[in-house]
Amino acid sequence: MLFWSNIIYIYFIFSLIPVQAALHSESTSIVDLLSSSPNFFHLIRHLQQDHFIPYLNRNKGLTFFAPLNEAFRGDTVDPVWPYHVLNTTDFNRTVFPTELKAADGLPIALKVTHKGDSNNPYDLVNDVYIVKPNWQADSGIVQVVDQLLTLPPSSLDILSSESEYSIFYRLSSAWVGEYESTTLFVPTTSVFINTFTNTELSYMYSIYATEDVKTLFNQHSVIHERVYADDVVEPKNFTLRNGVVVTLQYDKPSKILYFNDTPSYNFDLVTRNGAIHVLPALLNPEVIVFTPAKYLIGLGATWFSEKVSQKREYIAADTSSYRGIFAPTNWAFRETSDIDYHIMENFYMPKVNKYYLSKTNSKSHDEHSALIRVATDTTGALYVNFDSHSIDRETIGNVSLFLIEKDIEPPRPLLSQLILLDEISMSVRYLAALGLGEDPNSTWFLVENDAWMKLGLVRKALENNMEMMQNLFLEYVFQGKHYFGSSEDSWTSGNYTTISGKSIMIESEAENTDIIYINGLPYDVQTRDMLVQEGVVHILSRLVVPFPISQRSMIIAGGRQEFLSLLEKQGLSDMLDQGLFIVVPPLSASDLKTKDFSFADRHIIDTGKKSFVIHDSLLSVDNGPWVHIEESGFSSCGHVYFVRSPIPTRRDASWKTFGVSLLGFFTAAVFSSSGYKTYKIYQQKMWASEREPLLMPASRASSILRPGSPAHSV
Ligand SMILES: *[C@@H]1O[C@H](CO)[C@@H](O)[C@H](O)[C@H]1NC(C)=O
Ligand SMILES: *[C@@H]1O[C@H](CO)[C@@H](O)[C@H](O)[C@H]1NC(C)=O
Ligand SMILES: *[C@@H]1O[C@H](CO)[C@@H](O)[C@H](O)[C@H]1NC(C)=O
Ligand SMILES: *[C@@H]1O[C@H](CO)[C@@H](O)[C@H](O)[C@H]1NC(C)=O
Ligand SMILES: *[C@@H]1O[C@H](CO)[C@@H](O)[C@H](O)[C@H]1NC(C)=O
Ligand SMILES: *[C@@H]1O[C@H](CO)[C@@H](O)[C@H](O)[C@H]1NC(C)=O
Repeated sequence: MLFWSNIIYIYFIFSLIPVQAALHSESTSIVDLLSSSPNFFHLIRHLQQDHFIPYLNRNKGLTFFAPLNEAFRGDTVDPVWPYHVLNTTDFNRTVFPTELKAADGLPIALKVTHKGDSNNPYDLVNDVYIVKPNWQADSGIVQVVDQLLTLPPSSLDILSSESEYSIFYRLSSAWVGEYESTTLFVPTTSVFINTFTNTELSYMYSIYATEDVKTLFNQHSVIHERVYADDVVEPKNFTLRNGVVVTLQYDKPSKILYFNDTPSYNFDLVTRNGAIHVLPALLNPEVIVFTPAKYLIGLGATWFSEKVSQKREYIAADTSSYRGIFAPTNWAFRETSDIDYHIMENFYMPKVNKYYLSKTNSKSHDEHSALIRVATDTTGALYVNFDSHSIDRETIGNVSLFLIEKDIEPPRPLLSQLILLDEISMSVRYLAALGLGEDPNSTWFLVENDAWMKLGLVRKALENNMEMMQNLFLEYVFQGKHYFGSSEDSWTSGNYTTISGKSIMIESEAENTDIIYINGLPYDVQTRDMLVQEGVVHILSRLVVPFPISQRSMIIAGGRQEFLSLLEKQGLSDMLDQGLFIVVPPLSASDLKTKDFSFADRHIIDTGKKSFVIHDSLLSVDNGPWVHIEESGFSSCGHVYFVRSPIPTRRDASWKTFGVSLLGFFTAAVFSSSGYKTYKIYQQKMWASEREPLLMPASRASSILRPGSPAHSV
C-alpha cells in the first residue's frame, strides 16, 4: 500500500539523487545507485544476505525493481530477487519475462500497467506501484517500487477464482496442472453456455467425456510456451496438439488480440505457468462430435447409453434417422432389459393428449415387432405403455431421446401385465379364476370395477356360477388383435368372431370415435390399446350381460334363500323369472312360519297392476311408505330388489308416514279435486323418469383417466 505522505517524501528524496549521482565518478552501477540513497538500506542488506549483489554487478542492460525500505517491514519477507530483474532496459512492452525461470527453463513473467493506460497515478508492476520510474544507472535501469514483487498465482488458481472461467476450469483442471508452461485460451462461462446445451455440458462434465474434453483443451491451449500479446505483433502461427493451426496477432494500437478472426479484449493475464487469454468464442467447437450415445450420458442415462454403444453401435452414433430412443435413468436401468424395445424407427411426437402404437426394434415371441404405445399429456410429457413417462428429452439431428423414470419392457402375458391395475382388478381376478387370458392373438374388452359393482346382484349371481361368468367373458374376447391406435388391424365396422366362435357385429362411427357399438349397444371405451403379450386389451366403462340371469340365482347369491323357501311354501315359486319385480325382505327361519301368503304375494310386483316407484335408494309400492333398497339386480327375467324391511300392508301405513312421503302432497291435492285420472298419468310419467337411471345400470361413470392414457388415438 502506498501512502500519499510517503510519496511526497519519496519524491523529495529522489529530487536530490541525480545531483548526488552526478557527483559520483564515471560508471555508476545499479548497486552504487541504490547505496547512494538511504531509502534502500534494507534492500541492500537483503541483497547482501542473499548474495545477489554480484549478479547485479556482473550483468549489464538490466532493469531492477528496487523496493523501498518500507517494503521490508517484518522479518518474514523472503524476496525472490530474480523475479525483480528483467534482461532489458526497454520498457515498451506490457508483459516482460523476468530472470526467474520455471522448472522447464522458461521465464516467469510480470506485467506492467502503464499509467497512460489507466487512471493510476503511477505505473504498476503486477499490483505494486512504481513510485520512481527509470532511474538510470550505467549498467541498467532501476524502477523503484513500494513493495516486494510476489509471483503471480498459478493458472489453476486464477481459473478457479472467477466464475467467468468456471466451466473451462471444471473441464480442464485435470490437464492444466500437468504442464510447467501453458498458454491458455479461455472461453468464458457464458460462451460455453451459449455454445453447448445443458445436455452437452453435462456430458462433458462426465467421466465418459475424457477424450472429448481433452480435444477441447488441446484446442484452447499451447503447451510448453508462454505467449503474450507483445510476442505476436507480427502474426504468428501455432500448431495445436490436435494439428489445428491458429494464428495469433496483436493489434497493438487497438489493444485487440486476434485468434484467427476471433478478437480477445481481455488477454495477457500473467500466471506462474504462463498466460491466460480470455476468448469470447470457442475455437472450432465442431471438433467435438456429439452422438445420441453422448446425449444419453448428458441426460443421465449413462448405463443405458453404454449398453447401446456396446450392442447397437450404429444407433449409438447415427443422427440421421427419425428414431425415438426411450432411455431409463440409471436408477431404473436393468441389465437384462431388452434394449431394442427401447428404440423405434419413424418416431414422431403424438399430438397433445393423443397416442399411437408403433413397432419397436424388438421382436416379440411370435417374430412380429413388439409394439409400443406412445402418448403425450397436456404438459408435453411422453408416456410409454402407460407405466413410464419421460422426465427429460433431447433431440440430436433427427433422433429424439427421452429419459424415462421407469424401465419399459415388451408386453408381458395379460394376467401379469394387468395384475397391478387397480381399476380393473375385478376383471383380472375373474379371468385368472376362469383360467382365461392366455388365448394368443386375441382382443379383450375388460370392464372397470365400477361397472361390476353396478351389476349388483347380477354380479353375485355370476360369481356363484363360473360357467355363466365364463360365457359372459367369452362374449367380450375376439379373435385376432384389433387396435384403435394402429393403422393395421384396427377396428372397422363389421362382424368379428369371438374366441368362442360367435359372430358379433361391431360398429364404429368415424365422427365419434369415443363410442363403439357392440351388438348394437353403445360403449364408451375408457382406455384403449393396453398391450399384452397375447394381444390387446381395451377397457369399457360398462358391462351388459347379454343373457338373462334368473331371479332365483340372484336371490341365492345375495344370501336371502329364506324368501325363496317362503315362496315355495306358499306355492308362489312359479312367479319367479316371469318378468315380475321381486322385492326381497330379510327373513329369519322363524319368519317362515309366521309369514302368510299375502306377505309373500305383497313382495311380487306386477308393475302392470301395481304402481312401483323408486326414488334414490327408496322404493314404494302403491303409494305405500318408502322402503330402503339395499341391493338390486336387473335382468330380463325380472328385477330383484333386496330391501331393509318388508313392504308394509296398506293398514300398516299410518297416515303420518303417508303424509311425509314425497307423493303425499300430490295425493292430497288429487283427493281434494276430481282430477284423479290426471294424477295417475302424471304419476306414471314421473315413475318412468325416476326408474330410468336405475334400469340402465351401466350409465357412464365419470372415471378418472390415468395420466398419459389418453383415450383417443391419433
Ligand atoms: C541477456 O540477454 C542477452 C542476449 O539478449 C544474453 O547474452 C545475456 O546472457 C542475458 N543476460 C542474462 C543475465 O540472462
Ligand atoms: C521496443 O523498443 C525497441 C527499440 O527500443 C524495439 O526494437 C522493439 O521492437 C520494441 N518492442 C516492442 C514490443 O514494441
Ligand atoms: C499461418 O498459416 C496460414 C495457413 O494456415 C498461412 O496462410 C499463413 O501464411 C501462416 N502465417 C504465418 C505467419 O506463418
Ligand atoms: C433428417 O432427415 C432429413 C430428411 O430425411 C434429412 O434431409 C436430414 O439430413 C436429416 N438430418 C440429419 C441431421 O441427418
Ligand atoms: C390372428 O387372428 C386373426 C383373426 O382370426 C387371423 O386372421 C390371423 O392370421 C391370426 N394371426 C396369427 C399370428 O395367428
Ligand atoms: C354381420 O352379420 C349380420 C348377420 O349376422 C349381417 O346382417 C350383416 O350384414 C353382417 N355385416 C357385415 C358388415 O358383414
